[in-house]
Amino acid sequence: MTTANAIAMPVVDAPPALSELLRASTSDQHRRAETRTFISALMGGELALEDYVRYLAQLAHVYEALESRDASDDPAPLGDPRLARLAAIESDLAALGVADWRERHPALPSTAAYAARLREVAAGGVPEYLAHHYTRYLGDLSGGQAIGAMIARHYGATPEQLSFYRFDGIEKPVVYKRAYREALDALELDEAERGIAAAEAQAAFDHNAAMFDELDARADVA
Ligand code: HEM
Repeated sequence: MTTANAIAMPVVDAPPALSELLRASTSDQHRRAETRTFISALMGGELALEDYVRYLAQLAHVYEALESRDASDDPAPLGDPRLARLAAIESDLAALGVADWRERHPALPSTAAYAARLREVAAGGVPEYLAHHYTRYLGDLSGGQAIGAMIARHYGATPEQLSFYRFDGIEKPVVYKRAYREALDALELDEAERGIAAAEAQAAFDHNAAMFDELDARADVA
C-alpha cells in the first residue's frame, strides 16, 4: 500500500533557484560570448591598447545608463554602491588619455541600442533591472577579472588604468558572488517575473554580443 501510494504521488520538481535559472538561461550565450572574435583577440594579445580603449569607452555609455537608476529602495543584491563602475571607468579612460569620452567615443549603434534599453529598464521593475545588473556585474566579477589581467599583460596597461576591475570593499569576488546569488534566490518573484528576468538576461547577453561584433568590425587587426 505504501509503495502504491508512493508511485501514485505526482513528482513535482521544485523550480530552479533564480540564480540557477539566470545562469542556465544564458549559458549558451555565455559560451559564445567567450569566443567572440573581438574579446578573444583582445585577450589573446592580437589587438592594441587603443582597441581596449574603444571597448572601455563603449562600456562607459553602458554603465552610465545602467547606473542611472536610484536603486536605494531596491532589495539586495541591487543597490550596492560598491558595484558602481562608471566612476572607475571614467578614471581609467582619463589615465588612458581620454578625458572626453562622450565626444571622442560616441556610442556605436549597438551600444546606443543597449543603453536605450538600459534606461527603460532602469526606470522600471525589479525583474528586468536585476537581469541587467546580474549580467554586467557578475560578469565583471568573473571573467572581467581575467580580462583585466590580460590587458595588463599584453598591452602594458597600468593599475591606475585598470580600476574598472577592482571593486573597493569587495576583497574576495568569489565570496561576494556567492552572497549575491543567495540574495537573488531570496527575492520573492512569481513565475511570470522569473520568466521576465530570464528573458531580459538573454537580451542583455545579446546586446553585449552585438557590441563585440561592432567593435570587431572596427578592430585594428593586421
Ligand atoms: C572572454 C570573455 C569572458 C570570459 C573569459 C568569461 C569568464 C567567466 C567565468 C570563468 C565565469 C565563472 C565564474 C564563476 O563560476 O564564478 C563567468 C561567469 C559569468 N560571466 Fe563571463 N566571461 C566572459 C564574458 C562574459 C560576457 C561578455 C558577459 C556578459 C556581459 C559575461 C557574464 C557573466 C556572468 C553573468 C557570469 C556569472 C554566471 C553565474 O554564475 O551565474 N561574461 N565568466
